This record gives sequence, structure tokens and C-alpha cells, in this order.
Amino acid sequence: MSEYYQIAVDGFSSCGKSTLARQIGEVLHITYIDSGAMYRAAALLALRNNCIINEKLQPECFRPVLQKADIQFHKSTNHLLLNGDDVEEEIRQHEVADNVSEVASHGFVRTLLMQLQRNYSHTSSIVMDGRDIGTHVFPKAQVKLFIVADPQVRAERRFRELQEKNSSSTFEQVLDNIQKRDKLDQSREVAPLRKADDAIEIDNSHLTRKEQLEKAIRIINEKLEDKQ
Ligand code: DC
Repeated sequence: MSEYYQIAVDGFSSCGKSTLARQIGEVLHITYIDSGAMYRAAALLALRNNCIINEKLQPECFRPVLQKADIQFHKSTNHLLLNGDDVEEEIRQHEVADNVSEVASHGFVRTLLMQLQRNYSHTSSIVMDGRDIGTHVFPKAQVKLFIVADPQVRAERRFRELQEKNSSSTFEQVLDNIQKRDKLDQSREVAPLRKADDAIEIDNSHLTRKEQLEKAIRIINEKLEDKQ
């Protein structure tokens, strides 16, 4: 076994992957990387540089911009830094959310971000959440988790979060958005969302966060022991 190990946490939108991956990082004292934040930063960069026209990314405009960009996480806050600026809040805004799937569907964007994602594994053990971590970024990850939850349950959780932020979205809109994103993520030509053959599925529809974390840690410990 190499000095460092990787834990891949993939799954559908709004199913609690990031929360779980962050908790795993804390419990195991390893680096947590939110790969979705990197795609969101790329989408923000494309918007700022007017490289999205009629909802379509213009590769000839965006390629040189992305190649020059500095995308990394702040060492202590873990916030996303784009060319040195903390954009953690901005990448969670509607405009970015509405354009990120389009940006993430382009091969040159994925190739570049995948390289950055892989670099993290050279200097520490990591837990990374996303859509293609176990299938493309780290196909040899020691542990692969695939998180699923009933779309209705995911929409209820997301709706509650949005209500707390005084959003005017209706439950039906939230459910519709989740179903659309599931379809887009699964039907994308490049690196679509798919459970890796050796991934272990966790359905958290009826689990509390604590139960989910306990289950994940049990699986991780078993897998890491097997590999030693
Ligand atoms: O996990 P998230 O919602 O922050 O991800 C934002 C978008 O990025 C989502 O539309 C899917 C895409 N994404 C991806 O294509 N591959 C990843 N590894 C992570 C996210």
C-alpha cells in the first residue's frame, strides 16, 4: 500500500455527500477536497470573462482563461480561492449553479481540473467528493462510497435549507431541479455519474447524519484493514 490513501465519495446532487466527506476528513484527520467547488469556480470564471453565450460555454474564449487560472483551497478555512480571492460564497449563488453543469460537461475543463484534483493525492491522504472520483479521478482509490437517497427525501431536505434562507422556491421547483440535475449528471458524455463497480452504496434516505457517518467509517476501516 502506498504511503497515502484516497477515499472517493460520489453520488447524486443534494444527497449529503459533501457533509459526509467533510466529516470523514475530520474523523480521520485527512485532507477533504470538494471537487464540485472547483467546477463551480470554473463556471464563475467563465461567467466573469463572458465566455458563456446563450447558456453555452465558448471553448475558444474559456480555454486560455482556465489555463492561466489559479484554483486552490485555503489551507485553514478550506474556502475556494480563485486567483487568490476567496469566492466560497459567490460559487454557491444561483447564477453559478445554473451554469456549472454546462461548464462541467466540457472535456478540456474536466481534464484540467482532474489534474489539479490528482495533485492533492501526492502530498497527503484525501477524501474527495464529486461525481466521477471513483470512476475517473482515482480509479484505484482504496475506498469508494456511492451515496444515494430518494429524490423526494433529497428535495425535502433541500427545500428546508432554502426556507431557512428565506428562498421563495416551491417544493415542486426544488424536486424538479433535483430530477433535472440527476438526468444531466448521468447522461453527460464525458465522465457521467456512475457507481464504480467496486463502490459501496450507502442509501441515506432513512439515516441520520450520525448514523451515516458511523456506517461510512465502519466501511472505511474494514477496507483499509483489508488492503494492508
Ligand atoms: O457537488 P456540487 O453540486 O457542488 O457540484 C457542482 C456541479 O459540478 C454539478 O453540476 C456537477 C459538477 N461536478 C462534476 O461534474 N464532477 C465532479 N467531480 C463534481 C461536480
